Amino acid sequence: MEHIREIMQSLKAELEQTRSIMEQGGETFSRREWGEAKERAMLLEQQLNAFEERSRKMVDNSNVGRRFKGRTFSNFDRAKQPKAYDICKKFADGFQENTGKGIILVGDPGTGKTHLAAAITNYITSELGVAVKFGNFVDILNDIKRSFHSDEDVVRELKKMPLLVIDDLGKERRSEWSEMILYDVINGRYEDYMPTIITTNLSPRQIEERFGEATFSRIFEMCVGVIVQGADVRKENSSWYGK
Ligand SMILES: Nc1ncnc2c1ncn2[C@@H]1O[C@H](COP(=O)(O)OP(=O)(O)OP(=O)(O)O)[C@@H](O)[C@H]1O
Ligand SMILES: [Mg+2]
Repeated sequence: MEHIREIMQSLKAELEQTRSIMEQGGETFSRREWGEAKERAMLLEQQLNAFEERSRKMVDNSNVGRRFKGRTFSNFDRAKQPKAYDICKKFADGFQENTGKGIILVGDPGTGKTHLAAAITNYITSELGVAVKFGNFVDILNDIKRSFHSDEDVVRELKKMPLLVIDDLGKERRSEWSEMILYDVINGRYEDYMPTIITTNLSPRQIEERFGEATFSRIFEMCVGVIVQGADVRKENSSWYGK
């Protein structure tokens, strides 16, 4: 996978080198040599700016909310969820488009599922410069409803994204429509080998019962399932007076 952070670092090193050659060579440079070095430096700067812009655009477009923008692997306490952490970190480090392989994080509230899904998203957008859509399932459904009255084809966009993160599957109000939308998106991605990450409080059995066997079997063929158990970190971090 093209790693834009690494490319940027080597461009930066080359730019610094070119500038220092220009400084040192000042008087001994011929006009032509000087012109060539200057042109090279300008080109490197342009390339760097373009990569910077791409990384920023990917981060902004991913739709990760303010709270989770800063959630990364480094500020996740691995000791609390070593298995889930390792699987998610490995996925991010080795991310390849069109593998069709994703992750489903299943478990109780406050166990770090959204944090890990955001850490993956933030890494892939900012470090790899790849487009990711991160969305709460309720928000995704609302976007689709809103798009009924516009030319925007939200469902098609969701199917095309190099990585789609569906956060909090199962919090939406039950309806045949939302179940059909999930099938449509999952099946589209399944057929095109597009990776998907899902977080949910529903157990695998509840997912099957709620969304039907066809959706369930596609999700579990595409995704590695991780059960995330443990204490609610939100409660651990909360402050109560008079306890
Ligand atoms: N292992 C961890 N290390 C650091 N912070 C954590 C860890 N686990 C959870 N947190 C923090 O606790 C809060 C709750 O975690 P998160 O939102 O990821 O839980 P969740 O499993 O998605 O819960 P829910 O099922 O209710 O959506 C977040 O602020 C998150 O950053
Ligand atoms: Mg969550």
